[in-house]
Amino acid sequence: MVGEVTVRMSSKIGRNESCWCGSGKKYKKCHEQFDEKIAFIKSQGHEVPDRSIIKTPQQIECIRESCKINIAVLDYVAEHIRAGMTTQEIDDLVAQKTAELGAIPAPLHYEGYPKSVCTSINDVVCHGIPSEKVVLKDGDIVNVDCSTIYKGYFSDSSRMFCIGNVSPEKKKLVDVVKECVEIGLEKVQPWSFLGDMGQAVHEHAVANGYSVVREIGGHGVGLAFHEDPWVSYVSKAGEEMLLVPGMIFTIEPMVNMGTEKVFVDKEDDWTVYTADHQPSAQWEIMVLVTEDGHEVLCY
Ligand code: MF3
Ligand code: CO
Repeated sequence: MVGEVTVRMSSKIGRNESCWCGSGKKYKKCHEQFDEKIAFIKSQGHEVPDRSIIKTPQQIECIRESCKINIAVLDYVAEHIRAGMTTQEIDDLVAQKTAELGAIPAPLHYEGYPKSVCTSINDVVCHGIPSEKVVLKDGDIVNVDCSTIYKGYFSDSSRMFCIGNVSPEKKKLVDVVKECVEIGLEKVQPWSFLGDMGQAVHEHAVANGYSVVREIGGHGVGLAFHEDPWVSYVSKAGEEMLLVPGMIFTIEPMVNMGTEKVFVDKEDDWTVYTADHQPSAQWEIMVLVTEDGHEVLCY
């Protein structure tokens, strides 16, 4: 009963009450028109964001702090990663640096995940588990996917690293996926749609002869590790969720040199491989939709 009253009051604010965004302004002078615009677009049949995933300026400030740590951890990995190192040593670097900065690695114990970071080499698409038995060798391409919790706020980004002398084919894959993210990012602006970004990512990958993984996507992030919306990179312009200022999500396409088909390792239930064992690459950034475009929060 109390719950019901709370829900009704939080979703229907009086025009003279203070706005839900925490600005202290009256609702009618703050987000009333914004909410009406979203309701109108919804009435036209589009998927729209729930208020719970639209971050307030205060929340954005806290998420930004988490992102700074996430970037620092990946910078630390970048300084130390080298051929001959085990992926367990990467996990150690992430665990140590994250703790030193007063934060927690989000993957550790997440749905039973056993380590602090994901390390995905060559034909591993994502969710590779660090191990003492896996040694980085000359010519490998590896994704290090780092997610951080700081004071309860989440950040998530990943980078590719080329170990020693990487073949031109694999180097091109790594470069093109980075371009895919940058090209998709340009489509992120208020009152456009997630599918505008997804189509741009997909087109650039396909134009280079690659395929894009369908089953695994990006996500909203900030107040939790994985929030709505689920983010596809094989979507179509004008489709998927409406983008409005205050939304935060990841752009993290997984792009394969060969088939788009993937499978999950039956032994560990985490590691995702390409079905044809050709290489795969991924970059992940976290982006905020702003009043006039977007801002990259971590990369
Ligand atoms: N960091 C991944 C993502 O981008 C999620 C990894 S879940 C884990 O969403 F448990 F494998 F860490
Ligand atoms: Co992510």
